[in-house]
Amino acid sequence: MRLTTSLSSQTEYYLEKEAQYGAHNYHPLPVVLTRGRGVHVWDVDEKRYFDFLSGYSAINQGHCHPRIIEVFIEQAQKLTLTSRAFHNNVLGEYEEYMHSFFGYDKVLPMNTGVEAVETGLKLARRWGYEVKGVEPGKAKIITCGNNFHGRTISVVSFSTDADSRRDFGPFTPGFDTIPYNDIAALEAALEDKNVVAFLVEPIQGEAGVIVPDAGYLTKVAALCKRAQVLLIADEIQTGLARTGKMLACDHEEVRPDILLLGKALSGGTMPVSAVLADDEIMLTIKPGDHGSTYGGNPLACKVAITALQVLKDEHMSENAAVQGAYFREQLLGLGNEFISVVRGKGLLNAIEIKHPVKDAAWEMCLNMKNNGLLAKPTHGDKIRFAPPLLISREQVDECLDIISRSLVL
Ligand SMILES: Cc1ncc(COP(=O)(O)O)c(C=O)c1O
Repeated sequence: MRLTTSLSSQTEYYLEKEAQYGAHNYHPLPVVLTRGRGVHVWDVDEKRYFDFLSGYSAINQGHCHPRIIEVFIEQAQKLTLTSRAFHNNVLGEYEEYMHSFFGYDKVLPMNTGVEAVETGLKLARRWGYEVKGVEPGKAKIITCGNNFHGRTISVVSFSTDADSRRDFGPFTPGFDTIPYNDIAALEAALEDKNVVAFLVEPIQGEAGVIVPDAGYLTKVAALCKRAQVLLIADEIQTGLARTGKMLACDHEEVRPDILLLGKALSGGTMPVSAVLADDEIMLTIKPGDHGSTYGGNPLACKVAITALQVLKDEHMSENAAVQGAYFREQLLGLGNEFISVVRGKGLLNAIEIKHPVKDAAWEMCLNMKNNGLLAKPTHGDKIRFAPPLLISREQVDECLDIISRSLVL
């Protein structure tokens, strides 16, 4: 059975505006949302959906979490931005909070995820020259195939996705790419004494929730340490309780040298990212070397403290672990002939669709939308399932029913 999507005139109205006046750099599902609360969002026609994307994992705490919104409004009425030309009375409090929460000497606050990645790369290069003693201009950073770390020129310089790079060159030099989840390849790459860092996602989210072998991160950390190479963990998508631990690295008790956070650090309210490292690395950057007008603004700092506190107080890692395991088990139990793979950790999950119809995953996502659940295909045949982390067992059951009814064409 193939369901067609008929759109309301209201929906059409907004889609046409975006198509006419906005750049065509996204291909969204045809749904226009007006409000959200917890695991739910509502469209212009007041139809309710489960949000199974969570703003690409920026809304781990659920939409418009009341504690986060309350703090947001309170701080917005006092002071929102000072720039770093002056001090504000929230930044230091936030920095101390981050230190006690994650155990790093220092934090460098930025805004979007890709800015955190850029900052991590700069820190690694600077450390490479000043501490490791790499010859000027020779520093090399190892990255993984099928990575996703954002969209700047430097970051797409080491993307292996053709669409992300086409006609955007020339690219930034100094990056080598090895296959993900390949310890032998890393070992070989680390023989080059100019390597200063290995940048890795503990689980590759955008690639379709690719979970490496158990023990991968532990071996990576040991190899990096032996080679005097910094381990940079991009936890922008995997971090902050999404995979069933506060950090995905925590599953193996690995402590990266540079930790990158973003997305859910603000509970979906504004762009807030952070780079954490110890003094030996962080203090290589001096005043004037790096920064951002909005980085460390008091509104972001207040919101981030509350966003983290909410994750902890509401035991969201624990819930993600329990509901995630149940969700995968039940998905497998559906026995749906078109699901070829179910994988994930915590509430970061994906399925692969095997179906003769072209764009079957997209069509199934339209079915899910019609049935009240929003998910988006990635790389054609994969569908990611990443609901807010406060989802209950009853809601998971309701969603499994929707998914099961929708994975037909
Ligand atoms: C692992 C990872 N790193 C970096 C980014 C980039 O974050 P942003 O879109 O906030 O720049 C993303 C975004 O999806 C991501 O998943």
